[in-house]
Amino acid sequence: MTSVSSARILFLGDIFGKPGRRYVVEQLPLIKEKFHPHFIIANGENAASDKGSGITSKIALELQNAGICAITLGNHVWGQKEFVNEIDALPFVCRPANFVASTPGASWIDIPFHGKHIGIACVLGREFIKMMVGSPFEATGTLIEQHPEIDTWIFDVHAETTAEKVALGWFLNGKALAVLGTHTHIQTNDAHVLDGGTAYMTDVGMCGPFYSVIGHKIEGILQRFQTNAPYTTEVATEDVRLNGCLIDVDLSTLKAQSAQAFRWPEGK
Ligand SMILES: [Fe+2]
Ligand SMILES: [Fe+2]
Repeated sequence: MTSVSSARILFLGDIFGKPGRRYVVEQLPLIKEKFHPHFIIANGENAASDKGSGITSKIALELQNAGICAITLGNHVWGQKEFVNEIDALPFVCRPANFVASTPGASWIDIPFHGKHIGIACVLGREFIKMMVGSPFEATGTLIEQHPEIDTWIFDVHAETTAEKVALGWFLNGKALAVLGTHTHIQTNDAHVLDGGTAYMTDVGMCGPFYSVIGHKIEGILQRFQTNAPYTTEVATEDVRLNGCLIDVDLSTLKAQSAQAFRWPEGK
């Protein structure tokens, strides 16, 4: 159990397809019992991968019912086209904050927390991400500047390159409670707290089937890479695991005390 002077946040990486979301829903009661997180955030950009990519309103509500209080997204935000008409009815879901302001959906979420307010937002990186977006540095800086009522921030940095993520970590050091990378689906071994009290991890990993190529069945992806032909890919089903980051927070300062890789089942 955490002491009263600290609180614990669990951030889960990209939830991938039906195997990923089923396992999240099934395992969260056990995870809550063991780790006592005060709130849980997840990246949901691949939660509807069985249909291609993206997320739907129905899936977002299922994840909320399972105890996830905020869902971040990424480059696959519009993988399900109807989601553009659904997102505005989902205040606990945010699309990348570095899209133009008129884009549907919230650009950040306010989580009331022990009398304080934590802002949650995601931004897309710009290196190797095939989307026209604004600077993630400017977008995160602007959110902080325009919302003095928010005591601290958790930023999901949905980006391809390690350098861009590390740079955003340093940019937000001391200004955010946590800067957590997503998108590659591969967990990195660098969870730590920066000297300004910001929890940092380059990529928290994936919640989905690990007997796969980042969630997809191996064979179709191998054919694609080997031939460049558009072979159909399918969601893998085996060896489902949850990856994320566990952060302990000092409630008096809202600085991170520790950040550690989360892997479930334990030992996997
Ligand atoms: Fe993803
Ligand atoms: Fe992504």
